[in-house]
Amino acid sequence: MLVGKRILLIIGGGIAAYKALDLIRRLQDRGARVRAILTRAGTEFVTPLSVGSLTGDKVFQELFSLTDENDMGHIELSRDADLLVVAPATADLMAKMANGHANDLASTALLATDKRVLLAPAMNVRMWLNPATQRNLVTLRADGVAVVGPNDGSMACGEFGPGRMAEVPEIIAAIEALINGSAAGRPLTGRHVVVTSGPTREAIDPVRYISNHSSGKQGHAIARAAAAAGAAVTLVTGPVALPDPAGVTTVHVESARQMLAAVEAALPADIAVFAAAVADWRVAEIAGGKIKKGAGGPPTLAFVENPDILATIARRTAGRPGLVVGFAAETDDVLGNARAKLTRKGCDLIVANDVAAGTGTFGGDSNLVHIVTSDGLETWERQSKDAVAEALVSLLARRITAS
Ligand code: PMT
Repeated sequence: MLVGKRILLIIGGGIAAYKALDLIRRLQDRGARVRAILTRAGTEFVTPLSVGSLTGDKVFQELFSLTDENDMGHIELSRDADLLVVAPATADLMAKMANGHANDLASTALLATDKRVLLAPAMNVRMWLNPATQRNLVTLRADGVAVVGPNDGSMACGEFGPGRMAEVPEIIAAIEALINGSAAGRPLTGRHVVVTSGPTREAIDPVRYISNHSSGKQGHAIARAAAAAGAAVTLVTGPVALPDPAGVTTVHVESARQMLAAVEAALPADIAVFAAAVADWRVAEIAGGKIKKGAGGPPTLAFVENPDILATIARRTAGRPGLVVGFAAETDDVLGNARAKLTRKGCDLIVANDVAAGTGTFGGDSNLVHIVTSDGLETWERQSKDAVAEALVSLLARRITAS
């Protein structure tokens, strides 16, 4: 139920705007109070009169409206709500949000709010699949914006595929999960989760280093999913080109030794997930100046082993996190090597993935993982790294709750 909760509904310009009318009714049935902002494009699909008759309130439309500013400024409008819901969220609204534009009432309210935002995207299939929209989606998710849908289906434009706005009951369920922080929606409330992500860099001299292809996408997705599940999250990340996830404490490091120190400083934790691709070796001595080409030929580098962060934490006798999760990045015998790592490193669960050339696991947006434990093996279908993260977090939440 949503008794007494205040929802600011932003209705964008799309054929799915008609569903927003039903959404208002269903929210009111659950006890919510709904205020609406109708964009100019939205008025092409539903009228202010129909929206206002349902909300029983003024329909807010203009950024610069003397009466509205006297009654309630746009900043206050955006904060006098428990949740902002954008339905339908058009490609244009998503682009404005992802880039921080504020040139109309809807985008200004979205930029000014201090509340959570839920998007129900609806648009043509090609617009949804366009790299620009997908880029904006990644940015918005990283900013902590929640998204429901879109669903697959035939569209008003005659095409078939993802782009149909989620159905009203699905949007209501997403709203209830966000607002109520229900046990089902936020099972990690009160827990601390530490996640490592990205590559490490091991300096050779002041200008060169050894590293790997990890982009941080998988580790950052896990940090976001854990935060969405209610956990306090510390993300320890090597150098990546991703924004820090919203609502997550992010610690930036370069080398394996810095990563270990940051993880140890972040403890105690209930769960630790080691998704970073840590360099196994570093050069024994970092040259003080740039190594020059010379008559002696190429330099010979001597290596020493880096500390194993996962094994160090998993083998702690005092202050070991309740659940220690490692990854295994393998190019051959994925399962055999993953099982060996589970035992050798002393962790509770290994997420194994194939990183051979051509798999796209490093840097890509999807992943095919195997969940390896001492008593079993599960193989999950290839899915987005966000979906892997969400499934992993709910598996860990079930395990930690049962323990
Ligand atoms: O970042 P992306 O581009 O999204 O790619 C995701 C990923 C491929 C990096 C990720 O899914 C993954 O597999 N991460 C683990 C990479 C790795 O270093 O695997 P490994 O098999 O070499 O190491 C096994 C485990 O020990 C890992 O949990 C690793 O974090 C940990 N380890 C390894 C060496 C070390 N010195 N310290 C560690 O903690």
